Amino acid sequence: MDRFVTGLEPGREGIDALIDAAQTLKAAPRPGGPGPLAGRSVAALFLNPSLRTRASLEAAVVQLGGHLIPLSSGSGIWSLEFRDGAVMDGGAEEHVEDAVGALCRYADALAVRAYPDLVDWQRDREDLAVRAVARYATVPVVNLESAMYHPCQGLADLMTWREVLGRDLRGRRLSLVWTWHPKALPMAVPDSVVLMASLAGMDVTVAHPDGYDLDAEVLATAERQAGEAGGRVRVTRDRDAALSGAEVVYARSWGGVPWYGKGNEEYRHKARLSHWRIDGMDMAKTADATLMHPLPVRRNVEVEDAVLRSPRSAVLRQAENRLHVQKALLARMLGG
Ligand code: CP
Repeated sequence: MDRFVTGLEPGREGIDALIDAAQTLKAAPRPGGPGPLAGRSVAALFLNPSLRTRASLEAAVVQLGGHLIPLSSGSGIWSLEFRDGAVMDGGAEEHVEDAVGALCRYADALAVRAYPDLVDWQRDREDLAVRAVARYATVPVVNLESAMYHPCQGLADLMTWREVLGRDLRGRRLSLVWTWHPKALPMAVPDSVVLMASLAGMDVTVAHPDGYDLDAEVLATAERQAGEAGGRVRVTRDRDAALSGAEVVYARSWGGVPWYGKGNEEYRHKARLSHWRIDGMDMAKTADATLMHPLPVRRNVEVEDAVLRSPRSAVLRQAENRLHVQKALLARMLGG
C-alpha cells in the first residue's frame, strides 16, 4: 500500500490490522532500538492550518526514529498550481508536478493537507490537490485531510470506537449529528466517519437539517459496506430519533451543497438552526453515549462545555489516537 487517500485502500482486514498495530504502539510508545523510520524523512505539505494533524504527525515520525519536513503554505514555500496544462500567469509560482518531483528526491514519504476552496462543489469533490500529489509522487502518499476525506481521523475514530465499545462493532449504534457552526466546513470528517463506521458494520444514523446531504457516492459506498458487514446506514432529519438509543454521538458541522460558495446566504439560512447543538439534555436521550468530535470544536456553539468536560467525552482520546494510528500507518507504508 503506497497511497492512503480515501482511507479504504488497505481494505477491511488491512484496516483492522492497522488498528491492532496502533493498539500495540499505544501500549508501548517507544519500544527502543532505532525505530522503523531511522534515517528516513517525511515531507508534509500543509496548505491549510492544523493543530492536531501537524503535531501528531511530527510526534509519530520522531517516535518512529524519523524526521519530519513540515512545509506550510504562506510561510516559506512557493504557492502551487495543481491543474494540469494550466498557463501559470497568475499567483501560483510552481507546478505541483515539479514540487512533488523534487520532494520525492529528499523524502521517503509525502503527506498533504489540502482543504477545499468551498466555492465550487463539483470541482472540490475531485480533490485536485491530493490527487495531483498522489499522481506525481514516486514515494508513499498520505492524505492529511482533503475536500472528501480525512482518513487519518477516520482511523483514529475507529480505534476509539473499538476502545469504547469493543473490537466487534457490528450493530453498535453510532449517530453522526450535524451541528450549527458560523462557517461552512468541509465534508471530509463526516465522509470518513460514515465510511469507517460502515466498514466496521456499525448501525449508523446521520442526522442533519434539509440541504446538508452528504455526498451521494460516499453514502452509496457506506451503504454497500454496511450491507456486507452486517450493519446499516440511515439518514434522518429527526435529531431526537437519532439521539435515542445512540451509543456514540459524533457531533460535527459541515457545509450545505445548495449554498456552496454563498457563505452569507448560508449563514442567513442557518440562523434558525442554532438548536442543532449537543447539550446535556441531548446526551440524556441516548443510551449513555460517548460524545465524539474531531476538534477543533466551537464550545457552547457546537457542543456545550459541560458535555465536552464530562466523563462521556472522548474528544481527547480521539486526538491522542491520531498519534498511534499514524505511527502504525507510516510504519506499514514505509515497510517497518
Ligand atoms: N482533527 C483535526 O484534523 O484537527 P486539526 O485540524 O487541528 O489538525
